[in-house]
Amino acid sequence: MRIDTALTRLIGTDLPIVQAGMSWVSSCAELPLAVSNAGGLGVIAAGPMRLPDLDECLTRIQAGTNRPWAVNMPLYRKGAEETIAHLIDHAPPVIIASQGGPKKHLGAFHEVGTIWLHVVTSLTHAAKAVEAGVDGLVVVGAEAGGHPPEHGVTSLVLTRLIAREFPEIPVVASGGFADGHALAAALSLGAAGAQFGTRFIATTEANVHSAYQDMVLVAEAEDAVLVGRELNPIRTLRNQFTEEMLDLEYAGAPVGDRREVFASKVLRQSAKDGEVETGKVEAGQTAGLVSERLPAAEVVRRIATEYCAVVDRLPRAAGGDGILRQTQTDAPVAVAG
Ligand SMILES: Cc1cc2nc3c(=O)[nH]c(=O)nc-3n(C[C@H](O)[C@H](O)[C@H](O)COP(=O)(O)O)c2cc1C
Repeated sequence: MRIDTALTRLIGTDLPIVQAGMSWVSSCAELPLAVSNAGGLGVIAAGPMRLPDLDECLTRIQAGTNRPWAVNMPLYRKGAEETIAHLIDHAPPVIIASQGGPKKHLGAFHEVGTIWLHVVTSLTHAAKAVEAGVDGLVVVGAEAGGHPPEHGVTSLVLTRLIAREFPEIPVVASGGFADGHALAAALSLGAAGAQFGTRFIATTEANVHSAYQDMVLVAEAEDAVLVGRELNPIRTLRNQFTEEMLDLEYAGAPVGDRREVFASKVLRQSAKDGEVETGKVEAGQTAGLVSERLPAAEVVRRIATEYCAVVDRLPRAAGGDGILRQTQTDAPVAVAG
């Protein structure tokens, strides 16, 4: 199946479906490989990886697919410079850069033929990235798992704002997208694709503890709370850790006290060791929409199939009365799980 957009034309995938770079969850070859081989864009999360592990992962993905794939690199991280130099040597087809400006390294990646997609969370941030010459934007709104923007502007508004301002730049909408309905929504907002994070946590190839997946599968949308205001906050599932953070926030505790609790946990403890009652279980509001653990290729297939069914059912201009009506005859569209 092919869904042709400005994004698929830029990066060469069959589908405008991007699997989000997620620390630990996609810090591996299996998940990105499965997504890329299914026609989407698989993304290795390089952030927490040691160089030898990243090397092995790059070798495996290069051997395992001739489709496009990407590496996600948070630019602010300790050790980022070394990893970036290494990545330039490997010339990945696509880089998705987050948490930092693109200017310093963009030229070097362009020289080796890498396409640069830049993660942005505001119009101002997007304008700077476009001016610096990035090839595309990944717009992350408030619903997202991981680090959503603290200003709270939703993907619905942010995607439209940025797509309207930069119609010539392929925009990938991210945060709150879990199925084919959401892909249709992203494309109607003027985006050229959507990025799916939380949906891919619950896949058989995800590099994450089963207790973490189980928590995502049973969570309601409102369990994905934002904690760590003023501290680069995270959206994470309710547990002892979020209760402690929220109590401090509601009580107006000074930022220093809150930082101590916030920094006492790292994602690895829950993602790799399964400490999900006391740790950071980062996930987006779409946890409420994800109820089935599936192979990643099946997730991609269902999103694309559902997208086609949804678009077919959208109301079209009908009759002479000028009223738009939805066809009532079709069975309900719901295949993404
Ligand atoms: C567990 C987890 C880890 C994440 N790690 C990263 C990361 O290393 N780099 C990054 O740019 N974004 C990271 N993100 C954010 C995702 O790339 C993406 O923007 C987000 O998951 C989209 O929202 P969704 O979960 O609603 O689909 C992470 C998100 C989650 C849930």
